[in-house]
Amino acid sequence: MSKRLHNILDHISSGKGESKEMKDLKQRLALATLTAQFTISPERLKEMVYFMIHEMHEGLAGKKSTLRMLPSFVYKKHTASADGVYYALDLGGTNFRVIRMLIRQGELISTSSSQFTIPIEHMKGTVDGLFGFIATSVLKFITEKAPDDNKKGYSRTIPLGFTFSFPVKQMSLNSGSLIEWTKGFTTTGVQGEDVVRLLQQALDKTAVDMKVVALCNDTVGTLIARYFRDEHAQMGVILGTGANACYWEKSSAVVKDPNVQKEGQRETVINMEFGNFDSQCVHCLPVTVFDDIVDKASPNVGAQRFEKLISGMYLGEISRVILVSLSKNGLLAKSVADRLEKPYSFESRDSGLISADRLPGLNFTRNLLLEKFGINLQDSSDLYLIRNICVLVRNRAAQLAGMAIAATLLKAEKTGNATIAVDGSVYEKTPSFRAVLINTIRAILGEEADVRLVLQKEGSGHGAGFIAALA
Ligand code: GLC
Repeated sequence: MSKRLHNILDHISSGKGESKEMKDLKQRLALATLTAQFTISPERLKEMVYFMIHEMHEGLAGKKSTLRMLPSFVYKKHTASADGVYYALDLGGTNFRVIRMLIRQGELISTSSSQFTIPIEHMKGTVDGLFGFIATSVLKFITEKAPDDNKKGYSRTIPLGFTFSFPVKQMSLNSGSLIEWTKGFTTTGVQGEDVVRLLQQALDKTAVDMKVVALCNDTVGTLIARYFRDEHAQMGVILGTGANACYWEKSSAVVKDPNVQKEGQRETVINMEFGNFDSQCVHCLPVTVFDDIVDKASPNVGAQRFEKLISGMYLGEISRVILVSLSKNGLLAKSVADRLEKPYSFESRDSGLISADRLPGLNFTRNLLLEKFGINLQDSSDLYLIRNICVLVRNRAAQLAGMAIAATLLKAEKTGNATIAVDGSVYEKTPSFRAVLINTIRAILGEEADVRLVLQKEGSGHGAGFIAALA
């Protein structure tokens, strides 16, 4: 379907000497075409909900599924037994965090943390480079902020929880191998390896006296951080550079892993890896030719197709590809294509902020394009078209994220009194994203559903510390 619609777009190029009326008409036609491609009908949403539930079942059963449904080996437990100093390391994107947590009877008393930017040569380099950088950063943190933590014979070996936000096949709470990199990482020597072992070796080599006792995904950390304060926390969701969710599932449903299944009714956290939903067949996802362009140019072609529609790594890029394509067809000023030629130069933050511009004259959009990209637009109809495209890209992402949350709650039969812990820049910083998200959830689940979305800042790291404390 999307191909046919795109053909209309191919036909409506505009050239020099054309009247203003004709250009306006063509811009409206282009926007109508894009709106048809980017807006998801309630029927389509419902179809996706059921397909997602289908994939959840298949994934749990170990059958072919686009959802990996990975066991976390975290089980529901009383939280009061957690006590002492714990460290958490949070690796999931370009930033890496070291967090020190003091916990008393399940209560987080104090935290301190430092953030380090992972140099690009380690994101795309070798295993020793990446893990060496991590261990050195931990040592730097301890030396500067808590030197006693590493004094031999002075303190106990400190337990550490490792949030590693990539698809991992876990063998136990403290072992798991990377299935494949996502979000632009390509570091060699990690895929198929136990990342706990890699981290422990790097820490030992750097003379950091800590033991990695728990490994978790960022969604799992986010859920557990909330669960320590709110027993109705049912899902952990990340809508940031990447996108994913986890939820409490009955162990007995985890048919593919007898070790988990034997725990019966006890609830355990499942990392869905929903970013990969519907990737192989693209059965029901509303992908357009623009999404195909973004996918083809990514390092993981054909994978994470759902994530590529909704996460912060890609939203700006989708908008950019559309804008450049329209500009090349004469439907937007030529300078748009010239200045936005470089892939990923138009960030999701730019796209999100422009989507929220409601000022008459769209002066915010005008200034951002001028100051950041040197695009000086004379024609206000160009500004409106650009703003509306950013709105379409944003709303589709929010609708899809809402669909995934609703589907998960339906599968888990937790649509009443449910707290959803959410973190990530797209959710937190994109204006109106949250409103569209919650409206979509309500539209799918109906008015009687009782679902709260809460922002769980830094939950991914804190949760790892809590899990380490319970280990
Ligand atoms: C990617 C990763 C996933 C993570 C998500 C959010 O989708 O594969 O593990 O949870 O990004 O950071």
